[in-house]
Amino acid sequence: MSYIPHYLSRNPEVRARLEEEVDRVAGDRPLCAEDLERLPYAEAVFNELLRLQPAAPLLVPRRAVRDTSLGGYFIPRGTLVEVVTHVMHRRVEHWRDGEEFRPERWLEGQACPRGVYMPFGLEPRGCRGIPLGMAVLVSGLAALVRKWRLEPESDELPADGLEVGILSSPIRTRVVPRRAGQAA
Ligand code: HEM
Repeated sequence: MSYIPHYLSRNPEVRARLEEEVDRVAGDRPLCAEDLERLPYAEAVFNELLRLQPAAPLLVPRRAVRDTSLGGYFIPRGTLVEVVTHVMHRRVEHWRDGEEFRPERWLEGQACPRGVYMPFGLEPRGCRGIPLGMAVLVSGLAALVRKWRLEPESDELPADGLEVGILSSPIRTRVVPRRAGQAA
């Protein structure tokens, strides 16, 4: 969620489409649980966010239970293998305009080959909470966008920290009410 101000303010056409969807679905009433399935664009925004900034940029390491080969590399039995989603989610051979924040890709049929997008990990040890996790994220985003516009103080993300996916400082953000008369 902390990357939302950055990506929405850098992509005003995405922000406008997201605000339009949320306003159209909820009208003047508060958002409710049934609205979740009427927010495909909000879901696409989150898929795109989890692609570029996966919450788990490294999966839980896997240990090879037998000699095997993967992507042309020989992996001896017992080797610990790290799956780096942060890299997989941007590789040019799998993603068109992979560095761009383009939620529309998720509404244009299959966005990527199977097994290339893994923000929730991989079976047999993949995440058990995907529907709940996505419901919390999408409803949180919709509730936020309905009332507030978050504007970062700078266009640039802070530099990477020591670990992949960790920034060296906060994304400082102004909270702007979307409706006249609404206090921040
Ligand atoms: C957007 C929110 C979430 C994200 C991005 C996420 C991501 C992940 C990831 C990357 C893993 C490791 C998978 C692997 O190494 O292959 C994992 C494991 C797991 N997650 Fe989540 N998760 C989320 C929410 C949840 C929720 C809400 C629950 C439960 C209600 C949950 C339950 C689990 C469990 C039980 C595992 C361990 C599965 C195993 O080791 O067999 N997660 N999750």
